[in-house]
Amino acid sequence: MENKQRYATLTLDDGRSVEMPILSGTMGSDVIDVRGLSKMGLFTYDPGFFVTASCTSSITFIDGEAGLLYYRGYPIEQLAEKSDFLEVSYLLMNGELPTAAQAEAFKRNVTRHTMVHEQIARFFSGFRRDAHPMAVMVGVVGALSAFYHDSLDISNPHHRAISATRILAKIPTIAAMAHKYHVGSPFMYPKNKYGYAENLLYMMFATPTEEYEPNPVLVRALDRILILHADHEQNASTSTVRLAGSSMANPFACIACGIAALWGPSHGGANEATLKMLEEIGDVSRVKDYVQGVKDKKYRLMGFGHRVYKNMDPRAAVMRETCHEVLAELNLENQKLFELAMELERVALSDPYFIDHRLYPNVDFYSGIVLRALGIPVNMFTVIFAVARTVGWISQWSEMIADPNYKIGRPRQLYQGAARRDYVAMAERE
Ligand code: CMC
Repeated sequence: MENKQRYATLTLDDGRSVEMPILSGTMGSDVIDVRGLSKMGLFTYDPGFFVTASCTSSITFIDGEAGLLYYRGYPIEQLAEKSDFLEVSYLLMNGELPTAAQAEAFKRNVTRHTMVHEQIARFFSGFRRDAHPMAVMVGVVGALSAFYHDSLDISNPHHRAISATRILAKIPTIAAMAHKYHVGSPFMYPKNKYGYAENLLYMMFATPTEEYEPNPVLVRALDRILILHADHEQNASTSTVRLAGSSMANPFACIACGIAALWGPSHGGANEATLKMLEEIGDVSRVKDYVQGVKDKKYRLMGFGHRVYKNMDPRAAVMRETCHEVLAELNLENQKLFELAMELERVALSDPYFIDHRLYPNVDFYSGIVLRALGIPVNMFTVIFAVARTVGWISQWSEMIADPNYKIGRPRQLYQGAARRDYVAMAERE
């Protein structure tokens, strides 16, 4: 049976009215197509985009109320348990899970692109050693367009695919270099025998003087962090990538914009902020007082709450499990900081204030703890998030560019400044 087009009718107080089509996706809320309002000289007002869909997408589905997250239709829990980051990357970029041959070819292709142009190593030395690694990431990733300009014709699907592979393959190398530069150690080249997460740990922690074999439990934990953070539909950084890309800017520049947006503590900076908060609380005995301060609205509990998930974040449930596994593997459960984190989790999950406000630990609460347990420095936490999200950004960017209906992004505003007035000569100003 053919579905009948449904409409929402908006009637203004001056009697004019407009019929707006109601659009339905495969899953999720219906969306009212408000584009017809512009013919009446009207715009919609929705700061923070609480109820505004900025695009159509087939990549990621979230139901915040039900706590669901699917990549290309596959539940995140299944992918976290059964898949690995490179397979998930293939899925996000291509829409389907790979066959064995496709997975092998993809892995080979990504692995063969992990080294960066040798001059990039020298580019690093322009940064201060004490620069935040995210500042370095924004700069170096933006600079990739100066090194790989042979694949920047964004109207060419082949160029887009090459750039996508390059960015996915090189981002762990650049992240590890940012860390090595910060601590003053020599850069470690990637090794083709390692998998994606393994290589990242190797490049961060190996030195030319010591043998280093990544611990498989820790590799798996990092791989899970990468899977869980790989995409999250139209969040602030992804929307930033899309908006930058809508002007036909090159993909490396767009990803650099995404990294900048991710850096903020309300977004990707939350795992770093969580650890800083735990260090500030300092001891289990201070949790109660700290929580009281949150209720008195003196500050927020970092790593708690989410714009979309108002029940449990499904990624947090998976990460919680990994968090406990890693703490047990490394025998860290009784260490002060981790004890404190678990107490904070217990209090927040049972306190009526947090229950009423539907504030649950989010994925960054647990990933922060896991990253710390893996020995990754706190200032690298958001960098790891950026490594994971790069595949989501590039998939969303590619989807937008391939869409024949895509247009430059141009939000409207509700102007509240001065009305028209005439220039007053300086001598006559009061
Ligand atoms: N601690 C204490 N109270 C909070 C928190 C928090 N973390 N988050 C929200 N609230 C309260 C807020 O005070 C407000 O209370 P009331 O209604 O009494 O005034 C209510 O909850 C709604 O807050 P909101 O700011 O309108 O909610 P939002 O949907 O705009 O904020 C958020 C979402 C993630 C920015 C916010 O929860 C937050 O600041 N969390 C801490 C930072 C964090 O962990 N961010 C990572 C998000 S997950 C990673 C990612 O996907 O990027």
